[in-house]
Amino acid sequence: MFDLLVKGGTLPDGSIADIAITGDRIAALGQLDAPAVRTIDASGDLVSPPFVDPHFHMDATLSYGLPRVNASGTLIEGISLWGELREIATVDEMVERAVRYCDWAASLGLLAIRTHVDTTPDHLRGVDAMLEVKRRVAPYLELQLVAFPQDGLYRAKNGRGNLIRALDRGVDIVGGIPHFERTMEEGTESVKDVARIAADRGLMLDIHCDETDDPMSRHVETMAAEVTRHGLGVRAAGSHLTSMHSMDNYYVSKLLPLIAESEMTVIPNPLINITLQGRHDTYPKRRGLTRVKEMQALGITVGWGQDCVLDPWYSLGTGDMLDVAFMGMHVAQMTHPAEMARCFEMVTQTNARIMNLEGYGLKVGDLASLVVIDADNPTEALRLRPDRLFVVSRGKVIVERERNDARLSIAGRPGSVRRRFGG
Ligand code: FE2
Repeated sequence: MFDLLVKGGTLPDGSIADIAITGDRIAALGQLDAPAVRTIDASGDLVSPPFVDPHFHMDATLSYGLPRVNASGTLIEGISLWGELREIATVDEMVERAVRYCDWAASLGLLAIRTHVDTTPDHLRGVDAMLEVKRRVAPYLELQLVAFPQDGLYRAKNGRGNLIRALDRGVDIVGGIPHFERTMEEGTESVKDVARIAADRGLMLDIHCDETDDPMSRHVETMAAEVTRHGLGVRAAGSHLTSMHSMDNYYVSKLLPLIAESEMTVIPNPLINITLQGRHDTYPKRRGLTRVKEMQALGITVGWGQDCVLDPWYSLGTGDMLDVAFMGMHVAQMTHPAEMARCFEMVTQTNARIMNLEGYGLKVGDLASLVVIDADNPTEALRLRPDRLFVVSRGKVIVERERNDARLSIAGRPGSVRRRFGG
């Protein structure tokens, strides 16, 4: 007798399978006719491994308007506003907002998040808050914490020392922000420094790298070289890489093979990059997204990150990784059927690889975490961003929702509407 049986769902690869769950693991897969304590009918629905977000800022989330809104809409004003907010926000407030966000995320099938935690202030209240959030959500959501020197590893007073203190308190991953250091040279040195810290401590590395429109911001070159030198490979991620949008094509033809050689991964954040970049331009106005398709063509692992929801940098957001993939698909012009399908894969399998998640997937023996989506296939999921009918986390049903078809009464033709295309 299985604990849970998810019957007849369509998997992302188009195959139809029953999924049997015992405890927190997938016990069997295929055409199954076995009894279970509970059975979910997923016939006609998409059954996917859960959504994964490899780039977020949970210490700032759901704080939109505090202490006031970002009037210029720029990255720099956002950083300045956050600098004020982190001095007045209490640990309890940050925990409450972050847990509320995690509940939003879980309700949308987002069950693993990597969040950067600002380690700039000496009080490290954000670190204490996020360590507490990680403990609280652990039963249903995997949270990875990055020690993030928001105001600069060297530019901020005690920047490096506070990053080390955060790691000593249990933060999982080493972060950086080379383009925000005072000089190119200090940016370069900061990349070497944080790569060495990650290698020495056996930790993963995730650097906010070249989040600027300056085409001469080339810290990703140093990062790729250091990742290769230390053999960090897929345990290192370059976040944003927006300067690459504006770089000289000849230089990029040298750069991308270096990134591929290093096996580091890449995390663009399309909702935020499209909003914040190009603010100093008139027209043509740059869109600020890194070169996604070009990197993928060379075999580089590129996912999609969310970055922000309702905070000093972004005034919207829902926690839905389908929104993120939808925006990414548009800005990167990934409109071929294979590219649209890849955009769905980027917010599931690819992001799981970027986060080095254990037991992720829908194979026998994987963690029994999945989401039942009111769609026929991944591309339809992207188009509709529809309801998540069930979310299962480690064998437990944590979310269930009624199918929400619209009832019509139009010109004497009562009926109901499902927005599916061909389904
Ligand atoms: Fe970020």
